[in-house]
Amino acid sequence: MHIAVIGTGYVGLVTGACFAEFGVEVTCVDVDEKKIEGLKNNIMPIYEPGLDSIVEKNYKAGRLHFTTDIKSAVEQALVIFLAVGTPPQEDGSPDMSY
Ligand SMILES: NC(=O)c1ccc[n+]([C@@H]2O[C@H](COP(=O)([O-])OP(=O)(O)OC[C@H]3O[C@@H](n4cnc5c(N)ncnc54)[C@H](O)[C@@H]3O)[C@@H](O)[C@H]2O)c1
Repeated sequence: MHIAVIGTGYVGLVTGACFAEFGVEVTCVDVDEKKIEGLKNNIMPIYEPGLDSIVEKNYKAGRLHFTTDIKSAVEQALVIFLAVGTPPQEDGSPDMSY
C-alpha cells in the first residue's frame, strides 16, 4: 500500500515515518523545499525522540520518500493524509487556506 502525507511538520513527518516503520510505502510532501532537501539528508526540522533514526532507516530502505511534487505523490496513493498547518485566526477560527 502506498500513502501520501501532505505537510511534513510535527504531525505529518511523525505520521509518515511511523507508517513507513510499519512497512507501508510513504511519500511525504511539503511546499518547503529546504525542509524536503534536509530530510533527504536526515536533517530533522523538529525534535521528537528517536524520529531521526526511524526516518533514516526507512528512507534508506526506500519505503519513505520526500518530495515537493504533490501530483506524483497523490497519483500513486491509496490513502492521503492532510497535515498542513491550520493556525488560529483573530476570531479563533482555523485558517484553512493552506
Ligand atoms: N502539532 C500538534 O501537536 C498537533 C496536535 C493536534 C492537531 N494538530 C493539527 O495538525 C495539523 C498540522 O499541524 P503541525 O503541528 O504538524 O503543523 P506544522 O506547521 O508543523 O506543519 C505543517 C507543514 O505543512 C506544510 N505545508 C503548508 N502548506 C502546504 C501545502 N499546501 N502543501 C504541502 N505542505 C504544506 C508546511 O510547510 C509545514 O511543514 C494542524 O491542523 C494542527 O492544528 C497538530
